[in-house]
Amino acid sequence: MNYEKLIESAIEARTKAYAPYSNFKVGAAILTEDDKIFSGCNIENASFGATNCAERTAIFKAVSEGYNTIKAVAVIGDPTTYTYPCGICRQVITEFAENDEIEIILIKNKNDYIIKTLKEILPGSFTKRDLDR
Ligand code: THU
Repeated sequence: MNYEKLIESAIEARTKAYAPYSNFKVGAAILTEDDKIFSGCNIENASFGATNCAERTAIFKAVSEGYNTIKAVAVIGDPTTYTYPCGICRQVITEFAENDEIEIILIKNKNDYIIKTLKEILPGSFTKRDLDR
């Protein structure tokens, strides 16, 4: 899979980060099952708990437009390291992921990224299937 456009979209989204408190800017982009890309940035708040991560911004944009199935997620935080999605975002990705093998692309820059599967970063996840009883 060629993730060039998804990666560029995450990098571009990072430039929109609203992070005056942490100064830690994050960009994310998701690929939907029908190959649409939605991007998002982190959006902080003076009431810190109201902060929204970049991944969730991108996912909530997609879901609110009617796109509920994700097949890849790309994330960039500090370009000197690979930023992994936080625990809450891993859970939200799980809710909308096509399956637990979808790829999570952790980006330093356009030419330097690593790929993990959702299952690798969130093994033993609790999902909507657990509620079917
Ligand atoms: N952040 C994200 O946007 N995504 C993550 O997966 C990790 C954390 C943001 C939240 C907050 O604005 C800043 O990074 C520092 O935690």
